Amino acid sequence: MTKHDILTEQEMSGFAMNQRVVRQIEHFREKMNLEKSQMNILDWGCGRGRAVAWLRADGYNAFGADVDAEPIENCRPLFTARGMDANALISLLEDGEERKFPDDFFHFTCSDGVFEHVRDIEQVAATFERLTVAGGVGVHFFPAHKHVVEIHLFMPFVHWLPENKLRKIYILLWLLLGKGPGWKELRGRSKWEQAHAYYEYSALKTYYRTPRQITEVFARHGFKVDFISLADFGLERHPLLARLAGFRVLRPLLDWGMRNVGQVGLLITKKKC
Ligand SMILES: C[S@@+](CC[C@H](N)C(=O)[O-])C[C@H]1O[C@@H](n2cnc3c(N)ncnc32)[C@H](O)[C@@H]1O
Repeated sequence: MTKHDILTEQEMSGFAMNQRVVRQIEHFREKMNLEKSQMNILDWGCGRGRAVAWLRADGYNAFGADVDAEPIENCRPLFTARGMDANALISLLEDGEERKFPDDFFHFTCSDGVFEHVRDIEQVAATFERLTVAGGVGVHFFPAHKHVVEIHLFMPFVHWLPENKLRKIYILLWLLLGKGPGWKELRGRSKWEQAHAYYEYSALKTYYRTPRQITEVFARHGFKVDFISLADFGLERHPLLARLAGFRVLRPLLDWGMRNVGQVGLLITKKKC
């Protein structure tokens, strides 16, 4: 299913909420001593609002925001059928600006696979500064800047290369080797046209930043910045990493690898004045 499809109950019944996010929500809910219904959660880059619907069904006071109107439209039928007002729960950003939700409202912000698509991260940090209650936190997962395989194009090292013809030719080579995401809308097009489309996507729709760049931006907006340690990442599906993370001496190295070539788990805490 894609953002072009209407969200249905059938799809929701097979939707698995990211347990890494749920674990963090529960961890901070306990720390903040809140009932589920008292915890205001914002899913940033909510798309069709699946996480919002899931969290609401589980008792949280969840909301969403996205820059794209189409997926938001596609959540409406399900939200309405469940007696939820999509207009009140989901905010369509205008030029990246959030205008629906009140200041200091959210105890928790989260996202999964969104920050690498954000062109203006400074604007997002300023928005979180406005929306997050003092002491509130945000947990945001996204691929690291030197992730080996570009996760949207399924090609190694693409985003390591400069944004010029070299990158386009490199993409073409992978296409000729049979690699690539195989977008439906590009079927029947020449390999060069496909390479052009994937190049445009990588240059215009993905923005990879170093941990240092991310730290500086959020620190400027009143957040304490940490990265979730590999040991706290939820390694059920990675028994080898879980064993390695058990060795304390290896942890700094593994954590460095995680936020530079693996998955970043950004943890931002709004400072109390
Ligand atoms: C990979 S999708 C994830 C969608 C959703 N979280 C889900 O799991 O179905 C990334 C989402 O981020 C949104 N997005 C991109 N840039 C954004 C920004 N600056 N602010 C908020 N959302 C953004 C896109 O429109 C898209 O819906």
